[in-house]
Amino acid sequence: MKIAVLPGDGIGPEIIAQALRVLEVLKKEGMDMEFVEAPLGGQAYDQFGAPYPEFTQKICREADAVLLGAVGGPQYDTLDRPLRPERGLLAIRKDLGLFANLRPAVLYPELANASTLKPEVVAGLDIMIVRELTGDVYFGQPRGMRTNEQGIREGFNTMIYSEPEVRRIAHVAFQIAMKRKKKLCSVDKANVLETTEFWKEIVIDVAKEYPEVELSHMYVDNAAMQLIRNPKQFDVMVTGNIFGDILSDEASMLTGSIGMLASASLNETKKGLYEPSHGSAPDIAGKNLANPIATILSAAMMLRYTFDNEAAATRIENAVKKVLAAGYRTGDIYEEGMKRVSCSEMGDQIVAAM
Ligand code: IPM
Ligand code: MG
Repeated sequence: MKIAVLPGDGIGPEIIAQALRVLEVLKKEGMDMEFVEAPLGGQAYDQFGAPYPEFTQKICREADAVLLGAVGGPQYDTLDRPLRPERGLLAIRKDLGLFANLRPAVLYPELANASTLKPEVVAGLDIMIVRELTGDVYFGQPRGMRTNEQGIREGFNTMIYSEPEVRRIAHVAFQIAMKRKKKLCSVDKANVLETTEFWKEIVIDVAKEYPEVELSHMYVDNAAMQLIRNPKQFDVMVTGNIFGDILSDEASMLTGSIGMLASASLNETKKGLYEPSHGSAPDIAGKNLANPIATILSAAMMLRYTFDNEAAATRIENAVKKVLAAGYRTGDIYEEGMKRVSCSEMGDQIVAAM
């Protein structure tokens, strides 16, 4: 198993280091893994002058899976748009065809008090958000900024989905629902946007192949509200790129901290990019304060989805549960009476629990 490791910017290198320590435990026991490091985002701009340089592209194309920290930082915000770190992330998603982004929002019982919502609203929460990742207004052309014929400046993007794009993500979502509680909610804004009215029509058609799955539809504004009002009504949610971006951040807070949320981005052949759902947190970078759990859980997702090793994935997840149950907390999930630990100390504990 060849794994491209992209630490990226901000807290990226710190959290990746802890995930690698956890994977090293499995490697020492005989799991066949090879790690190849490459830069992405600002780190890549500094070394190669581009956020997704050919050097990195080659390594990622050859790898079976990619493990990513995070990209972005204030020092890059003034660069020309195509050179910014976020563009590197979008470019690698597109280049590797990673259209299916799985973002599980699971509440660990020990963290019920870390959520800003009442514990009874979130206890037992287990939602899987399936976000389409290589289409929508994120990639639609034309896009840009211009001065129109009246001499007025404007910015514009194109929201667009083709039938094959909607079909393939709908299949992924239905298949995931089949392995869970068989409930799928497709999120759209079909009352206003043709793109998503079309989305809904295709999802309804794909549903015919999954008669056991209970399909519902929700407008995105209502979905945002329902996620806060009664999040446990959801099992699997499927939506487009921009709505999924927003709803997955919202869902992450139900679980107490975005520092807990893993993600997998898969292509048609199960090659995947695995990254925490959170960003590069420049404010705490280099201070050994970050929560490495989302990255460690992303490594577990890698073992599950790309390497089909459910046992190893569960083992990592159980180690995380054990450490939380023992009261270890990084700052983002800290509560009085708990044991506050640094990023690397959290890594120590999880490695020991393995
Ligand atoms: C995410 C991030 C990215 C996105 C940014 C950094 C480009 O917010 O992965 O959710 O919008 O997809
Ligand atoms: Mg986002």
